[in-house]
Amino acid sequence: TLLELSDSFGRRIEYLRMSVTDRCDFRCVYCMSEDVRFLPRSQVLSLEELATIGQAFSELGVKKIRLTGGEPLVRHDIVSLAEKLAQLPGLDELTMTTNGSQLERFAIPLKRAGVKRLNISLDSLNPLRFAALTRREKLSQVLTGIQAAIDAGFERIKLNAVILKGRNDDEVGSLVAFSRKAGVDISFIEEMPLGIVSSHSRKESYCSSDDVKALIDQQFPLEAVADKTGGPSRYYQMQDSDIRIGFISPHSHNFCGSCNRIRLTVEGELLLCLGRENSVDLRAIVRRYPGDIERLKEIIVEAVQYKPKEHRFYQDDQPQIVRFMNMTGG
Ligand code: GTP
Ligand code: 5AD
Ligand code: SF4
Repeated sequence: TLLELSDSFGRRIEYLRMSVTDRCDFRCVYCMSEDVRFLPRSQVLSLEELATIGQAFSELGVKKIRLTGGEPLVRHDIVSLAEKLAQLPGLDELTMTTNGSQLERFAIPLKRAGVKRLNISLDSLNPLRFAALTRREKLSQVLTGIQAAIDAGFERIKLNAVILKGRNDDEVGSLVAFSRKAGVDISFIEEMPLGIVSSHSRKESYCSSDDVKALIDQQFPLEAVADKTGGPSRYYQMQDSDIRIGFISPHSHNFCGSCNRIRLTVEGELLLCLGRENSVDLRAIVRRYPGDIERLKEIIVEAVQYKPKEHRFYQDDQPQIVRFMNMTGG
């Protein structure tokens, strides 16, 4: 039988975000707590299990896999997993989201392994600010990493900046100027309330994409462009530059209606929506029936039926999701 993935609202699922580790060499304030405790290895999917699950998804018509974390480059032997996944027939692209700190070493091996595009987080160009947001003093390492990625010749590179009022909203212009100069795209992201943070108030630091766009428009008038990466960004361009400016606006411009993706958490939970708890335990299946791809595929097809219509970050003003982003797969 020919199986394919569509949910109960008729949305085709063609994009899998696969978290390969909950660990990270940063402690970004919006992503994890300072004293985070990482999972014991036994709870994390092995590289073989990840490859099996990736294969099942590609056989179900998934066209794009994005490796995320945590920080995917802290996972031992990640390049060999990338190599395996990139060779799956049926997959159009393998991509990765990284904090960039180790790209000086990994850019060329990843490109060789078949990773097509890279998204690299960059929230500030000021070393002290950067350290305040990531709780690590590694801005120069990240900038070196970005340059290494550019030199390695990836098809496309996109920077990601989560904008928090009072922390980095005054850097929007300089981040755009940096991206123009480097010739890379950039997306500005509204923070999502995953996990309980003590470092800042999410309400007070909320900065809408419309506010960010208005800041850019003053300096560089933006024109909407159609562009499909399969992700949630709405893209714009400037007259005198080829780069794209994206906005990811889970609060102000809900994109759930056109959602085409699901996530695999580092523990092997198939998470049907970033902002809900509906999930199905695939780790149990791959461990109980190793190598049984057909069974796995059937369970995935069934699981997708539980994908909810949309996220629900708040209910009666209370945050709903206690799981942090690093556990979720940013
Ligand atoms: P491309 O479009 O392929 O470049 O990827 P992307 O922008 O979707 O991926 P990236 O890993 O760079 O993620 C950027 C931000 O978008 C992160 O904060 C993600 O958590 C967020 N994001 C991606 N998919 C979803 C989604 O389905 N729902 C929500 N709420 N956020 C998402
Ligand atoms: N809200 C929005 N984006 C987040 N990221 C991590 N945590 C959050 C959050 N709470 C972003 C990172 C990275 C991407 C994978 O997700 O900045 O660019
Ligand atoms: Fe690490 Fe990315 Fe989370 Fe920052 S957002 S702590 S870089 S996983």
